[in-house]
Amino acid sequence: MTDKTNGTHGAVLEDSTPVPDGPLVELRGAGKSYGNVRALHGVDLKVHAGEVTCVLGDNGAGKSTLIKIISGLHQHTEGTFLVDGQPVRFTSPREALDKGIATVYQDLATVPLMPVWRNFFLGSEMTKGPWPVRRLDIARMKKTADEELRNMGIVLDDLEQPIGTLSGGQRQSVAIARAVYFGARVLILDEPTAALGVKQSGVVLKYIAAARDRGLGVIFITHNPHHAYMVGDHFSVLRLGTLELSASRDQVGLEELTNHMAGGAELAALKHELAQVRGVDVEELPEEGDLTAPVATSPEGST
Ligand SMILES: Nc1ncnc2c1ncn2[C@@H]1O[C@H](COP(=O)(O)OP(=O)(O)O)[C@@H](O)[C@H]1O
Ligand SMILES: [Mg+2]
Repeated sequence: MTDKTNGTHGAVLEDSTPVPDGPLVELRGAGKSYGNVRALHGVDLKVHAGEVTCVLGDNGAGKSTLIKIISGLHQHTEGTFLVDGQPVRFTSPREALDKGIATVYQDLATVPLMPVWRNFFLGSEMTKGPWPVRRLDIARMKKTADEELRNMGIVLDDLEQPIGTLSGGQRQSVAIARAVYFGARVLILDEPTAALGVKQSGVVLKYIAAARDRGLGVIFITHNPHHAYMVGDHFSVLRLGTLELSASRDQVGLEELTNHMAGGAELAALKHELAQVRGVDVEELPEEGDLTAPVATSPEGST
């Protein structure tokens, strides 16, 4: 098996032997029901090394459910979930982590008053000396944290500062560098830019790209098509629990992506209503779903 068949990503492989260039993570017709609530249904997704796969969708679309399956928090109730081409069913996030699947949650699991370097190693501290006099290897942890952050292009003045004093974007960046250092192959980010301003979002996007360039397969959850398009290689749009669009970068433009997100048809209908309210032609309304632009009345409960 030495022939390097330039693994075309779309190659149909019926057997489940791992393919070198195959997806790290794959969902086939995957779904999840919470009791009677079908949160996710018939979802296909492939995550390749060195690529950013964006998962987009409105609130309640099923984004979190999707990544909870991949990160081992929940189990799928339909379809197949494969890691390295092998069907899996994780019973805990630990199992996912053991396969190199790391998740950075929005509410980062950091201890705000502890120094940056200490947070970097939280739960996996370096120690030195033989048992029973093992103690923390503080010097080595500081040095390693410093090197690793720099490797990712993250420059902090002082690793002694409490991580709580960093900006939201910087904290996310540290979490990304941490996952890379501890051997993540797949990095899942659940709406990392949702609570951030433009500049801070830029910081996080930069490190998403850095993780991708280090060869990780990144799953970037967002409801912002602009953020997605800045770093994304592939775009999967969820809508009411099903895939509404799955397209690579060369198959979809930003405008079309935004349309899918906004629900193109609904937006058109809304525009029509707005035009009637204002007694103008639809064509006279502002372009690009910019509904904040001059609108005489704001219909209550339209969302
Ligand atoms: N633990 C749960 N129990 C019951 N329903 C849930 C649970 N988690 C999510 N849901 C439902 O599943 C759907 C998808 O939710 P979610 O995956 O959180 O969407 P998103 O992250 O895109 O906002 C929603 O209708 C939500 O109410
Ligand atoms: Mg969510």
